[in-house]
Amino acid sequence: MNNFPDLIVKNIGLLATPEGKCAKKGKEQGKIKLIEDAFIAVQGDTITGVGTEEQLKALEKQRNFCYKTQIVDAGGSLVTPGLVDPHTHLIFSGWRQKELSLKLKGMSYLEILKMGGGILNTVKNTRRASLEDLIQNGRTALDRMMTHGTTTCEVKSGYGLNVEDEIKSLEAIRELNKIHPMELVPTFLGAHAVPEEYKGKTGEYVELINKQMIPRVAGEHLAEFCDVFCEQGVFSVDESRKILECGKNHGLIPKVHADEMTSLGGANLAAEVGAISADHLIHAGDEGLCAMAEKSVVAVLLPGTSLFLNESFARARTMIEMGIPVALATDFNPGSCPTESLQLVMNLACMKYRMIPEEVLTAVTLNAASAINMASTIGSIEPGKQADIVIWNAPDLDFIIYHFGVNLVKTVIKKGKFTVNDGQVI
Ligand code: NIG
Ligand code: FE
Repeated sequence: MNNFPDLIVKNIGLLATPEGKCAKKGKEQGKIKLIEDAFIAVQGDTITGVGTEEQLKALEKQRNFCYKTQIVDAGGSLVTPGLVDPHTHLIFSGWRQKELSLKLKGMSYLEILKMGGGILNTVKNTRRASLEDLIQNGRTALDRMMTHGTTTCEVKSGYGLNVEDEIKSLEAIRELNKIHPMELVPTFLGAHAVPEEYKGKTGEYVELINKQMIPRVAGEHLAEFCDVFCEQGVFSVDESRKILECGKNHGLIPKVHADEMTSLGGANLAAEVGAISADHLIHAGDEGLCAMAEKSVVAVLLPGTSLFLNESFARARTMIEMGIPVALATDFNPGSCPTESLQLVMNLACMKYRMIPEEVLTAVTLNAASAINMASTIGSIEPGKQADIVIWNAPDLDFIIYHFGVNLVKTVIKKGKFTVNDGQVI
């Protein structure tokens, strides 16, 4: 540390973090750095030092701090990197709690969508909503996410499904990124469903996406990624490929909602087009997974969605054994997974995927950052990385998986600034 730190977090009982600037796969995913009795030094928005309390005392002796340095006592608790949620649909208007009873009566998610419900119901409400309404709804969700430990998230459009309302959704993301401490990474998902006015004319809707939406989205720098719901009865592999290739030609990095409800070939497609991630993968076959492993496509798994759709769970252990980097996300949306809590997702990943807590931590930090192209700046607590830090009401990693269904976040620091204290947004 050459300069005086602005902030020291000390008396950290256990610091747990993955290390490095790229996704971890295979056995490496479960290898994290653990430091007992640790401290973190921060200058501006960047971590400048990490070490033990003994090393901190030595620095104090050398008078390496000045009177302006703020000292925060972590009270002997667990400290981790800020959590990263690499898959959310948080720009929408209108919840869909009414679908719950239909599902309990046996109707499937895709049947509800076919009837004009599901995503299409949210589309109606989102089209009616103003930009300000969307910003207000988004802000509420982001506050909840941040109190649960998330400091960066990916956000998709996809409830507008026409030029004007897709742009409105992406503008809401841009605005939220300015006014909320959460760091948002935008994804264009015009191919989330075929809107009612294009029913039976999917090809024409694909044309609208490729000729009008993508050029406008890319031209106005409203998104970094382009995603497609590649699913039976929604967008076929060929249609998805056309959209993702068009996005690539305009500088948008591909992502795929792949093999979520049926085994359509989304994982293969993700590898073929060089997607940064393939998400869901509940029904992905061995061939698709092999292709992903070969191309180092990150698997973004969403166990909250499996739970809420009463579906089976993705084969996370197989993926890890095959050398696919696994990340975890909420999929926060009003239909298939209405939760903002990555903590719940972490618990489900252990209980249903049989991932170990160390693998889970990597999955919601470094690997999640890698799924949104940010692993060089966030996802671990190391000098040079952004100061995104969570102090937990827990002594160790096992505890946050084990004591489930409650919020165990005490303090959140984003880019060196306090954003949550005692569980409350500041
Ligand atoms: O990831 N699969 C498509 N999209 C979301 C669901 C969106 C919704 O139901 O509103 C998902 O599960
Ligand atoms: Fe999704």
